[in-house]
Amino acid sequence: MSNHPKGNARTVVITGGNSGLGYACAQALLGSADGPWHVVIASRDAARSRAAADALAAGAAAGNSAEAMVLDLGSLDSIRSFAAELTDRLGSGALPHLHALVCNAGVQMGATDARTADGFEATFGINHLGHFALVHALLPVLEAPSRVVVVSSGTHDPGPKGGRAPAWNDPHALARGELGPAAAKDNALLRGQRRYCTSKLANIYFTYALARRLPEGVTANAFDPGIMLDTALGRSMPAPVRFAFKYIAPRFIWLLRRMMKDSVHTSQESGRALAWLAAAPELAGTTARYFDGRRDIPSSDESNDTARAEQLWKDSLILTGAGHQPLT
Ligand SMILES: NC(=O)c1ccc[n+]([C@@H]2O[C@H](COP(=O)([O-])OP(=O)(O)OC[C@H]3O[C@@H](n4cnc5c(N)ncnc54)[C@H](OP(=O)(O)O)[C@@H]3O)[C@@H](O)[C@H]2O)c1
Repeated sequence: MSNHPKGNARTVVITGGNSGLGYACAQALLGSADGPWHVVIASRDAARSRAAADALAAGAAAGNSAEAMVLDLGSLDSIRSFAAELTDRLGSGALPHLHALVCNAGVQMGATDARTADGFEATFGINHLGHFALVHALLPVLEAPSRVVVVSSGTHDPGPKGGRAPAWNDPHALARGELGPAAAKDNALLRGQRRYCTSKLANIYFTYALARRLPEGVTANAFDPGIMLDTALGRSMPAPVRFAFKYIAPRFIWLLRRMMKDSVHTSQESGRALAWLAAAPELAGTTARYFDGRRDIPSSDESNDTARAEQLWKDSLILTGAGHQPLT
């Protein structure tokens, strides 16, 4: 542990908090005087997570604290162990009240056809199923007042901003890596992008279905951070794409901002917006909403398909073996 929670602190768990948006969100919370906040950086690599938590703790405002816990969202075993340990520590008072669970971790696989430890296609498996299983396992400790914030993306909705559309399919097929008919002509790289936006659509279905089931005082909202060029999300992309993102695009950020109607941000800007969603007292009763930064806007028409969301919920229970948990 980097340092210890004090007094009437509240715990915020941030998946993938060792990098990019999650790290910036942790920084914003830990820099704030509205706590005390105890931030748990929940990420898959122990050394990277610990280094991040140590750096965050060193820069934290007085009374705030941070620590690292290992969580691999690509492994149901790892998710269960993480949830069991967190639950024990919350129950024993070693950690203060769980105020927010920020489901931020995410991958975009490029042209790679990667699988999770349980055999799910990695994009759907980590971005959706991993978070689904995590939230389920933590439901008993998500007591009012508390909130779940799910990081989605504007790519769930190609309408206003352009880009590749999701290719929804039966959730069992998505778990096997099979996209819907819209992806029939995709090459491997485009399929990777399509899997990513489809998983981000799943994030919204999950958020809305979860919000319908949570007790009063426990909320669930989805968040679009906009386009951030300074994170590691593109690490699996081919080298020329990575080069363009790292060295060329940042020089033209002013042009991108103009072309993309203000949806290009630094991770610091979006991290502050995500921290606001996780912590702002004025949002205590806000649930089942979609935020573009701090703007509460409608998500795509497709993402409001309740029948699909309910099917995804039922199939995710089966796929993750979470059916024994309180909310079915
Ligand atoms: N960047 C953008 O333009 C953009 C736009 C819209 C939405 N988003 C969303 O923002 C979120 C954060 O992404 P980012 O841009 O900040 O990218 P990032 O820097 O790559 O951060 C992703 C985080 O997720 C973690 N992670 C990946 N797989 C994991 C696993 N199996 N278990 C646990 N943690 C795992 C990573 O850990 P490691 O360091 O160990 O890999 C990293 O900490 C994602 O949900 C992404 O979809 C990003």
